[in-house]
Amino acid sequence: MTDQPTLPDADRQTAPDEPIGYLLYRSVARPGLDQDDLDRILERSRRWNRSVGLTGCLHHEDGMFFQWIEGPRPRLFQLLEWLRDDDRHVNVTVLDQGQLSKRLFDDWEMRFSDRQVASLLDWLAARRDRADTGDAQGVADFMRTLR
Ligand SMILES: Cc1cc2nc3c(=O)[nH]c(=O)nc-3n(C[C@H](O)[C@H](O)[C@H](O)COP(=O)(O)O)c2cc1C
Repeated sequence: MTDQPTLPDADRQTAPDEPIGYLLYRSVARPGLDQDDLDRILERSRRWNRSVGLTGCLHHEDGMFFQWIEGPRPRLFQLLEWLRDDDRHVNVTVLDQGQLSKRLFDDWEMRFSDRQVASLLDWLAARRDRADTGDAQGVADFMRTLR
C-alpha cells in the first residue's frame, strides 16, 4: 500500500469558494480486523474521497479508529451515515465538527497512520491534563502533527 500524497490540485473536486467542513470522530474497530480489511477500507476511501473532494486522515491504534475528514459538508454527512452502518467498527462517536478556512490534509485523499507512525495515546498522555481519547482538542492537535 502506498502512503504518499496522491491528489494533484487539478483533480480536486471542490470549487475554490465552497465552504469546507470537517468532522472528527472516534470508533471502536471490530475485533479481528486485519491488514486486508484496512487495505480495503483505505482503497475504497481514497477512491470515493477523491471523486467528491474529501481529504483527511485515518489513525488506527489500540483497537480504535480516529478519523479527520474535511470537504463539502453534504458529502461529510453522507459519509457519516455510511460509517455508522459499517460493521468493521462500532460506537462511532463524533468528537467535533465545524467549518474550516483551509484544509489540514490538502494533499491526501486519506492519510493513514498507526502506532508505528505516531502514537495518539502517548501524545494524549504527555498532555497530562487531557489524557482521554474523547478530548476533541487533543485528538485534533494530534491530527495536525500528521500533516
Ligand atoms: C474506520 C473506517 C473509515 C472509513 N473511511 C472512509 C472514507 O474516508 N471514505 C469512504 O468513502 N469510505 C470510508 N469507509 C467505508 C465506509 O464506511 C463505507 O463502507 C463505504 O463508504 C460504503 O461503501 P460500500 O457500501 O460499497 O461498502 C470507512 C470505513 C471504516 C471502517
